[in-house]
Amino acid sequence: MNNFIQAMAGAMCVLRPNLRRADSLAIIGSTDIDDGFYAALAAGGQALGAETTIGLMTPRLAFGRGAPDAINRHVMGAGVVVAAPSTSISHSETCLTHLKAGGRWLSIPAPKGAGRAMDMLANFAIYDEQRLKELKEITLRYAELLTDANTAVVTSERGTELTLSITGRRACAYYGIAEKESEMQGSWPPSETHIAAIEDSAEGVLVVDGYVTGVGTSDMPVKITVRQGRITSIEGGMFAKRVEKLIEDSDSNANVICELGIGTNRFQKEEGNNGDKKIAGTAHVGVGINAAPSFGIHYDGKNRSNLHLDFVLKPSLALELDGRRVVGFGRLLV
Ligand SMILES: [Fe+2]
Repeated sequence: MNNFIQAMAGAMCVLRPNLRRADSLAIIGSTDIDDGFYAALAAGGQALGAETTIGLMTPRLAFGRGAPDAINRHVMGAGVVVAAPSTSISHSETCLTHLKAGGRWLSIPAPKGAGRAMDMLANFAIYDEQRLKELKEITLRYAELLTDANTAVVTSERGTELTLSITGRRACAYYGIAEKESEMQGSWPPSETHIAAIEDSAEGVLVVDGYVTGVGTSDMPVKITVRQGRITSIEGGMFAKRVEKLIEDSDSNANVICELGIGTNRFQKEEGNNGDKKIAGTAHVGVGINAAPSFGIHYDGKNRSNLHLDFVLKPSLALELDGRRVVGFGRLLV
């Protein structure tokens, strides 16, 4: 019960800045997550005066897979959708349709395992108005840096050396609050900024030592080789094999390096879930879809796939934009 109250407090920190008067709230969940997690989210919505519904679906195989039609109908007309199944569906038609209709969308992928989703929600209670304001400022600043840059170079002590072009692309700032109609804020906890890579531009080696969305964290580094924008090999034991199979079982565009992201949240701790890519000084590189709606409906990536995976690099990295170091060994330098 105590945990429920803490989780509800966390839910209210998510929902308070996002709900407006007379908004209805549609929560999307999956059956592999403790239903107390959804009950706590719903209790938060109700406490804030929102008409709240929960729609549960069977789990999706991977991040990026779509939702069944029953879920599309469930969210129809809702002011705010909180998408909180075990895999993100922010790259789905469900999301696109909702955004096109003027709705707002929050993504809270729920970690699997007893009590983990509830714990994550309870941890959101640290995000008060002051902290969210700070995170918005720094995230917008870094989004501008990405938008203005042409070339990004990521290096790390582990051996990462990856170059990619982001010329002409517009970065997205996710700081946890969907302020405008048709706005997506994916995902909680805040905050990150990311940009679509030019699809055939990435070259080099990525050594992943952090979380891989929807898959987990490997106990050994995963070495990914990239040529002309596509992954050509993945090495690093059983974990690497799982990632490789997931990409192979998707479609022919699932191996395209599609995104560069920067974590901007100095309050977030490593939890072995999707929140890890928000930690200040981390970076993440994505593969798969980067076309709308994955970064909002006005987004400008060109790759379509039924997969989207993020590979998180822990803060032992350096990021240079057009030769200027903007992230260095765990610190945001600008
Ligand atoms: Fe991503």
